[in-house]
Formats: sequence, structure tokens, C-alpha cells
Amino acid sequence: MGSVKSLHCPKCGHEAGSRTIFQCAECRGILEVQVKIDHLTRGDFEAMRRSRDRSIWRWFDFFPLEKRSAIVSLGEGDTPLIHARRLAEKLGIPNLYLKNDTLLPTGSLKDRSNSVGISVAREWGVKTAAVMSTGNAAASVAAYAAAAGIESIVMVPAGTAPSKIVQARAYGATVIVVDGDFDNEVAQLYKSALKEFGWYDCLSSNPYRDEGKKSYAYEMADQLDGRVPDWVVHPTAGGTGIYAMWKGYKELLSLGSIDRAPRLVAAQSEAAAPIVAAFETGLSDVEPVIARETVAESIQVGNPVSIGWRALAALRESNGTAIAVNDTEILRAQSQVASLAGIFVEPAAATSVAAARKLRESGAIGKGELVVCNLTGHGLKQPEAIRISEKAFTPIAPTLDALRERISSGSSVL
Ligand SMILES: Cc1ncc(COP(=O)(O)O)c(C=O)c1O
Ligand SMILES: [Zn+2]
Repeated sequence: MGSVKSLHCPKCGHEAGSRTIFQCAECRGILEVQVKIDHLTRGDFEAMRRSRDRSIWRWFDFFPLEKRSAIVSLGEGDTPLIHARRLAEKLGIPNLYLKNDTLLPTGSLKDRSNSVGISVAREWGVKTAAVMSTGNAAASVAAYAAAAGIESIVMVPAGTAPSKIVQARAYGATVIVVDGDFDNEVAQLYKSALKEFGWYDCLSSNPYRDEGKKSYAYEMADQLDGRVPDWVVHPTAGGTGIYAMWKGYKELLSLGSIDRAPRLVAAQSEAAAPIVAAFETGLSDVEPVIARETVAESIQVGNPVSIGWRALAALRESNGTAIAVNDTEILRAQSQVASLAGIFVEPAAATSVAAARKLRESGAIGKGELVVCNLTGHGLKQPEAIRISEKAFTPIAPTLDALRERISSGSSVL
């Protein structure tokens, strides 16, 4: 039975007086939830692996939910882990695997978090769930709230890809486009609005929803059947993926289900790389930066202060690293993932592959090592990123001669 053991501040150790607050009363840090897992055994994990339920909820005992009846699931989880042989050969990483999270219900990794976050909201009888987002979280919160019968309000910065706004709106969310940038004006308005209206917060400042991405560790352990990746590379914005994945791996170590953990890599866009900067300079906390424009819109976050320090600690504990890639490298990786592995990802998601390539080139990743790149968002989220020549849209005459001519003039559209 999944249940909460403690809600405490990992910074100052303070134990929260109530289970429904997210911020430390002493130091204002974000609280962390601990689930009671001491009683779980390796055998229990094996039983979960065999469950007919293929969603993340087969790992129910690892999540901070009391009652199974509160689960809000759209079948998220168990996304394919593909040995991408052609891409592997191109990058010189024969054991390259791609974790295809583009196949989650709303097309991004956010569903791992929000299935847990909105289930908790349902358990608590929440009326309105809110999030501020560069797009993917908005769609995800909106979808899960719709399934739960909870109202949703999402705030996105001006300039967010129309396809993302449309998706959140389609699920019935109230979408507020705010004139300002994500890290400053949008963040300030969002914070004040949470206070003013008492909405349920679905950001990474919600310790319950953050537990959802632990499922990466459980799924990889299941799918690799005892093998442990040498490296897992994750496109990183706020740092929840890195931090939660590490927590999941540590839980599996404590159960004895695995005998070592992977080295984790935070991949960021050069235009918004505060975690990389803090990692490289040896800081224990993240200094905000001003995020510049990047094709990796979904991870264009310059100020991940709430849990960034925990991601840094996870990178160091795992003996991993953090690396930034530029837009040219990101777009090349996006194109290669599509044309060599058959998976269409948004640019932000391609940062993991761009980073793996760089780490292989520098020798940090060894040739025979097993590398998993998380592909965290679908290419259709941001179709504008793909430049297609006018010619591709120009019709040909319906004749074999015209067809021959078009084919011989080249068909590449990327
Ligand atoms: C496509 C995509 N990849 C990765 C992330 C990374 O998020 P985090 O660092 O919080 O795991 C996000 C969200 O911000 C995203 O939308
Ligand atoms: Zn504290």
C-alpha cells in the first residue's frame, strides 16, 4: 500500500506540520516526500514487473498515494526502450538505447509526473490544478485534470508554440498567455496567483508530482532485465528528471534489485544551461541565468532554483556529468533520430542524443558502454522547428515523367 512516510525539508531537515504544504516553513525550500518502502523486497519488485498493468501504476507502492481508487491514469509508462542500431553505428556507440517517451499519452515526459500529481489532487479533493509551462506540462496537466474532473489553469509565456497551446486548450484548460518571459514575469504572476486563488500547484515545486519520474529507473531496470545502463542522458530544464531518476535508482539499490546505478547526464541547451554552469564551477546550488532563444523551447529555463540543487547532487553522487549543446548540434541530432531511428522528437528531446554524441567524441563515454538517451517530447509538439523546402509542397503534374523528375531532383525535406 503506497503511503507517505514523511514530508520534510531536504535542506534544513524540518518536518512539515501538514501533508498538504509544499514549502518549508523554516527555510522556504521545497519539501521532499518519502514513501514507506522499507518493507518492500526484491521479490515485490519482481512481482510488480510481472503485473498486467503496464502503466506506471504497477509501481504503486513507490508512489505517495494512499488509495488505488484515486489513480488517474491514461496508460502512461512502459514506453519502448529501443536499441537504435543505425543511429548507434553513426554515433560510434554500439549499445545506444532510446527511451521513447514521445509515446506517452500527451506526447511528453510530463505525463509521468502529472499522473501522480493529479492522482494526489484527486485524493485530496482538489477543485483547480494549475501550472506554468513552456508548453508540455500545460498539455499534460490539462489532460490528467480532464480525466479526473478537475479544472485546470495553465500559464504560458508569449511565443509558446501554437501547437502546444492548442493541445492544452483541447483538453479543456483555461490557457493564459502571459506577456513576459518564463523565468520572470510568468513565474512571478504564477506564484502570486497560487497564493491568491489557492490552486493546486503542478510545478516541480510539488513534491508529490515529482515522484512520478522515478518510474524511469523502474522501467529501465525491468526492460534491461538486470543490466544497468552505464549512462542515462536526460534533456534537462528544472532538473526533476535527473533528481527523481536518481532517487528511483537508489530505491532499487536498497531493495537489491540492481547492484549498481548508472551515471546520469544532464543535457541542456547552451542558451539555457544553468545546471551545466553550476556543475562545471563546482557550485552546490544553481545560479539563475538569463535564458536566450533556442530551438529547444521546452527546456528554455534559466532559473530552475527550486530543485536544481538536488539535480546537481544527483549528478555528482552518480559520478555523472552535465553538458551543453548548441542549436546546430540539437537540430542535427533531431534529424538523425528521425532518419536513422524512425522517431520524430522535438528539438528539446534531441539534446540527449546531441550530448551523447559529444561525450562519445570526447572519450567520456567509452565505445562499449550501454547508453540510454531519454527522448522526452514528440516532434509534432513543435513542427515549426522543421524547415521544409517550398518545393516539397508544390504539386507535380499527375504523370510518370513529372514524378521521375521530382524523385531525381531529391526528396530530402529536413
Ligand atoms: C521535452 C522536455 N524534455 C525535458 C524536460 C526536462 O524537464 P526536467 O529537467 O524537469 O526533467 C522538459 C520539461 O521541462 C521537456 O518539456
Ligand atoms: Zn527547510
